[in-house]
Amino acid sequence: MVLIGAGQVSRELAPVWKQAGHDILQVISRTEASARPLGEQLGCPWTTHLVDAAGALADAQVVVVAVTDGLIAEVAEGISAMVSPSCVMVHLSGATPLDALKGPRAVVWPIRSFNPKADNVPLEGTPTVIEASDAASFHAAQTLAQAWKAEIAEASGPQRAAAHLAAVMADNYANHMLAEAQEVLDQRNLPKTLLRNLVLGLTQGGLNGDARERQTGPAKRGDDATLERHRALLPDDMRDVYNALAAHIAKRHTP
Ligand SMILES: NC(=O)c1ccc[n+]([C@@H]2O[C@H](COP(=O)([O-])OP(=O)(O)OC[C@H]3O[C@@H](n4cnc5c(N)ncnc54)[C@H](OP(=O)(O)O)[C@@H]3O)[C@@H](O)[C@H]2O)c1
Repeated sequence: MVLIGAGQVSRELAPVWKQAGHDILQVISRTEASARPLGEQLGCPWTTHLVDAAGALADAQVVVVAVTDGLIAEVAEGISAMVSPSCVMVHLSGATPLDALKGPRAVVWPIRSFNPKADNVPLEGTPTVIEASDAASFHAAQTLAQAWKAEIAEASGPQRAAAHLAAVMADNYANHMLAEAQEVLDQRNLPKTLLRNLVLGLTQGGLNGDARERQTGPAKRGDDATLERHRALLPDDMRDVYNALAAHIAKRHTP
């Protein structure tokens, strides 16, 4: 395998691949600051220049393109003449079309946030979406995902796009609401962990797939007096968000 990109995801997945027996021939990244430490950690050559990786790219059975989403197609185009016709190109992006890659190709998208605070969220068992151009590429992708004992879901392009939308709604937007809620507490000198048990319930909805049945609160109950008191407390730039969510909850829960 050749790994292109030594960012947040590569730093976590590459050692797992190595541990699972994948032979990482070379790490290529944009700057020495990211390429060198990962190459040294994996005990393989590293470079910031594609030409220096020509030998490894020619030998690779799999190339993982783990760069910023907007650069995947450009990087894939740049290496397409350097890899063998049977080499499977893989990217890890939930949002990027499979056709950003060339030749035999696959997407391996672990549905998990890779961030500096994520080390308390297990990688093992992470639900992972695979989309592939052909059976051999699917098999190569499956082998990569098995390194973290993934719960694998095969998906078409449109299914993966919808799953990415769902992931952004569930993680990014819910987390943003949580961050805003913590600010409301913090501004009144209350501990930001006050919501801990509520969040445990929220998480159970994610684990069990029964979030709709767990909904409570003034918007669901149609408690207009409480909604009005909240509006008075809200920062101006959150009021529209609050109103839109309250209206949507009321609509969904109207018998
Ligand atoms: N982060 C997540 O939570 C998450 C979750 C699932 C999937 N993914 C996917 O994983 C992929 C990587 O994401 P990430 O979060 O690891 O991104 P990241 O932390 O921004 O890392 C991107 C890496 O690509 C390198 N790079 C950029 N342009 C390059 C080029 N032209 N040639 C070689 N290397 C280049 C960067 O080098 P420098 O370090 O030198 O700048 C950096 O090491 C993305 O497709 C993303 O959608 C991310």
